[in-house]
Amino acid sequence: MHELAKELNQALQGTIVDAMLSDVGRRMFFPKGIVAQSAEAGKYATRFNATIGMAKSKGQPMYLSDIYNQFVEGAFLPSELFAYAPGGGEPKLRAVWKEHMIKKNPSLTGKSISLPIVTGGLTHALQMMAQLYAQEGDTLVIPDLAWDNYELIFAHQVGATIKTFELYTPEGAFNVQGMRDVLASIESKKARIILNFPNNPTGYTPTKTEMRAIADALISLAEEGMKLMVISDDAYFGLFFEEDSATESLFSLLCDAHENIFAVKCDAATKEEMVWGFRIGFVTYGSKGLTEAHYDALNKKSLAIIRSTVSNCDKPGQSMLLKAMTTGSSYEVDKEAAKIEMERRYRTLKKALKKYEGNTLLIPRPFNSGYFMSFKCKGSAETLRKYLLDNYQIGCINIADVTLRLAYCSVENEQIDELVGIVYQAAAEAWN
Ligand SMILES: Cc1ncc(COP(=O)(O)O)c(C=O)c1O
Repeated sequence: MHELAKELNQALQGTIVDAMLSDVGRRMFFPKGIVAQSAEAGKYATRFNATIGMAKSKGQPMYLSDIYNQFVEGAFLPSELFAYAPGGGEPKLRAVWKEHMIKKNPSLTGKSISLPIVTGGLTHALQMMAQLYAQEGDTLVIPDLAWDNYELIFAHQVGATIKTFELYTPEGAFNVQGMRDVLASIESKKARIILNFPNNPTGYTPTKTEMRAIADALISLAEEGMKLMVISDDAYFGLFFEEDSATESLFSLLCDAHENIFAVKCDAATKEEMVWGFRIGFVTYGSKGLTEAHYDALNKKSLAIIRSTVSNCDKPGQSMLLKAMTTGSSYEVDKEAAKIEMERRYRTLKKALKKYEGNTLLIPRPFNSGYFMSFKCKGSAETLRKYLLDNYQIGCINIADVTLRLAYCSVENEQIDELVGIVYQAAAEAWN
């Protein structure tokens, strides 16, 4: 093992991170190679800087004017668009993202968490977590209704075993006991869990009481000696439409809760800032007892994964996002308007579904937030999906042949009532 990796492992020894690192994670270190030397030269090489493989002229990267001229004149220096982004992301953007995170999650105030690291989107953040902290023999717990990519990343890519619990109780609440039971049943007394609220595919966010109960259940397991890595996938954070929904990330309740809980927040500009194609995500760490030195070691291991996979992340996206978040004149207004529109569609959908109460073909699962809702299907969801496509030219998603997911975020408000009507009609036709 490389000496620098040994140093980082030494720094993390005895912490919850030490218990969670995979073999790859243990081997990772940030080399004092080209990137580190270039960063050093960036500070001190005032005469000539001959470190980086980037064509430059007059202090700026060279560029194609056909690209540069697509931007409003004076908006960005060439270096803000064409240069490599620093490893881990633009320092200012990282600081601003953290500031906003604390504003959106007031109970994070004063808590010790790491500086968010920029990733190439939230998928990349999760993939980094899998590489660094999971491997064959490890268990990942997720709800039975969860984003399908978790399985691809954690099971098929790094070989972890996936265990699930039913997301809902029979009454339609978050199944805290089911989650606790499946975690408690893991013999090694060590597990990773991903919880995603608002949930994809169901559009469910726990109530404030449920969120507290989730945190308490995880803390009680930690008190019993179980070691937990809790990843909050906050992809749809902020799209809460009901008064009683928990509006803070689970991460804020867990990042200082117990030495046996390693809390990680994976979030992204993707949906929160409506820049789906930009590929900007973030990883933030928090655990009781972790010091700045620990976070530094953790961030170095995370940087090493980035360096050895995508090298670094999208620069123009980061520059544009930073500008919007810091000096944008319509940033807050536009975000609020989009949320209001999503909420309008949510209420229209609720009203449309009311007409079908008691219909046993398609039973809407509880939803209160986010982009989606899902139906529990009496017949084959795949049959219905195909039938809708072939006969009505309507696209929706089948999950495991028992769930049909509607992404109402992408349907105009005026069309939602008609959509629901056709889905119910098609179910009756397809499954007769
Ligand atoms: C729950 C969940 N997590 C993560 C992602 C991935 O986000 P990104 O596009 O930033 O990789 C998605 C996107 O669909 C998602 O639904």
